[in-house]
Amino acid sequence: MNILVTGAAGFIGMHTARALLDAGHRVVGIDNLNDYYPVALKEARLATLRERPDFVWRQLDIADRDSIAALFAAEPFDAVVHLAAQAGVRHSLRDPHAYVSANLLGFTNILEGCRHARTPHLVFASTSSVYGQNAKVPFHEADPTDHPVSFYAATKKANEAMAHSYAHLYGLPVTGLRFFTVYGPWGRPDMAPWLFTEAILAGRPIKVFNHGQLQRDFTYIDDIVDGIVRLLPLAPTAGGDGSRPDESWAPYRLCNIGNHDPIPLLRFIETLEAAIGREAIKEFLPMQPGDVPATFADTDKLAGLTGFSPRTPLREGLDRFVAWYRRYHVDILPGLKSGDSYGAQARH
Ligand SMILES: NC(=O)c1ccc[n+]([C@@H]2O[C@H](COP(=O)([O-])OP(=O)(O)OC[C@H]3O[C@@H](n4cnc5c(N)ncnc54)[C@H](O)[C@@H]3O)[C@@H](O)[C@H]2O)c1
Repeated sequence: MNILVTGAAGFIGMHTARALLDAGHRVVGIDNLNDYYPVALKEARLATLRERPDFVWRQLDIADRDSIAALFAAEPFDAVVHLAAQAGVRHSLRDPHAYVSANLLGFTNILEGCRHARTPHLVFASTSSVYGQNAKVPFHEADPTDHPVSFYAATKKANEAMAHSYAHLYGLPVTGLRFFTVYGPWGRPDMAPWLFTEAILAGRPIKVFNHGQLQRDFTYIDDIVDGIVRLLPLAPTAGGDGSRPDESWAPYRLCNIGNHDPIPLLRFIETLEAAIGREAIKEFLPMQPGDVPATFADTDKLAGLTGFSPRTPLREGLDRFVAWYRRYHVDILPGLKSGDSYGAQARH
């Protein structure tokens, strides 16, 4: 297949593109390489893709209407994996306009591209954050998601509604995937695994919000990618009765993609300490605005559709993350800073 992956220099995008290339597909990857977090990391991820002959790279902003229209007009895609977005709950309190640009305007441009090109399947990233303060666990796709507690979640909830209207109006087959806290090698510097590892190694305190009374359904990147790759050939078809918010008469569906194993924050920290071989200094703080107390994915729907079965225990996933984190800072990053070919370095 010829597949467009947006956000290809991002954490999930790079791993997804790599897996699709491994499976023999041609991948067109786009990203605007913005500086929400260090661009060097995005470039190093990209370098691992650019050495692959079936990977085509274009630096594009999805909010640029003409460029995205031209991209879709230039060649047909058999599927689109839309992962480019302004991510992060906390940042959405500081810079909501970044979310409007990437997540609302950019998303509209991707929908329009798929509509005019009659793309057979659009798979896009939503988030567990749409469940807000849902107290019923595990979170099921048909649970109410009408009360987002961050602007980030509000834009992702909007994406789900926007995608549904395109599925209904134009018959565009769309799957929205609600990702649950993804972690692993090449992960995001604004997320807990990276922030905590960095602080523990530097002997600095880690910030433990809500006094540790948080739970997250941490999901290892390879399991997430496995779910995406399995789902891609399975475009939804029209014909449901529309009786559930996650299904519809239109060719549209929503699926959770998570580990189905919520981890209390303090257990997560203990496991990370063991993986690093050092204790954390903990600074206990109150709940942060926009945060949710717990996430827990019901993944029966995705399992039923694809056989998805997450298989990476937290300790194993964190061991791999910490090993990568050390290698990145020892072998890869210094090469980037000194201007060496990061392509060669990033191959490790
Ligand atoms: N990582 C998680 O735990 C998690 C959880 C829930 C949802 N998600 C969603 O999954 C997707 C991928 O997340 P990630 O963790 O890989 O984040 P990421 O920030 O590493 O990747 C997103 C990529 O999109 C690019 N991008 C942002 N705005 C763009 C624009 N206007 N034009 C082109 N490219 C743009 C960024 O440069 C970045 O490389 C996002 O949609 C995110 O909201 C992630």
